[in-house]
Amino acid sequence: MARKPFIAGNWKMNKTIDEGIALVNELKILVGDVADVDVAVCPTFVALAKVGDAIKGSNIMLGGQDTFWKESGAWTRQIAPSMLKDAGCQWVIVGHSETRGRFGTVDAELESVLSYFGESDTTVNMKAKAAFAAGMTPIIACGELLAEREAGQTDQVIVGQMKIDLAGFTKEQAMKMVIAYEPVWAIGTGKVCDSDEADRVCGLIRGVVKDMYGADVADAVRIQYGGSVKPDNAVELLGKPNIDGALVGGAALKSNDFAAIIKAAK
Ligand code: PGA
Repeated sequence: MARKPFIAGNWKMNKTIDEGIALVNELKILVGDVADVDVAVCPTFVALAKVGDAIKGSNIMLGGQDTFWKESGAWTRQIAPSMLKDAGCQWVIVGHSETRGRFGTVDAELESVLSYFGESDTTVNMKAKAAFAAGMTPIIACGELLAEREAGQTDQVIVGQMKIDLAGFTKEQAMKMVIAYEPVWAIGTGKVCDSDEADRVCGLIRGVVKDMYGADVADAVRIQYGGSVKPDNAVELLGKPNIDGALVGGAALKSNDFAAIIKAAK
């Protein structure tokens, strides 16, 4: 089955509201005519609604960077899936290594406050289910640390995460979900994963999906690679059979770079 490429930009904690609007206005000019690639931007929570207004009627879709799994109530600082949907989101990233508290490099200051970030595969799974229930589609991120890769544990880590993160969806939901393979050591470091190895791990993930949901779902599900995707490595990565798109951080903050990556997916 031909899977439609999907390029999503994770802005992380970058861009004011005005800067975000300016960025998507540039993107509308650069990639407004691209129909054969799905494109989404994931601004900060406070910029979602206004950036969402700016992309209305265009081919650029909106995503949140995280969600909570409850719908309302006494949950100070949390954002419900229905609130993201209300702001215009069709997508939401869950389980990014930065919300799991799994960073490529941990500085001394961060080490002492690491528990602030931690979430488990169970919460990632609850968030993904809540996203579906609210009418959005989750982009479910997974990835191994450098120490895990060096210890030869990559496959075991990825399979372990996926089995919990992806559990209990309906077949229809599983068909729609997007998975992002993001080796933690490649995020924001400029160290891109070798394209054959990225393709191999994405294939491994597809195999887990096949075991859990069957061959038809495994064939339909889109798996993105993320971690230092740039215009100069995008063609190579996106040309691989098991890589159906990219989750882009740093390069999604510049309209020309993000547009070049989208065009590389065509
Ligand atoms: P990067 O981030 O492209 O800056 O490496 C990717 C991500 O964290 O999604």
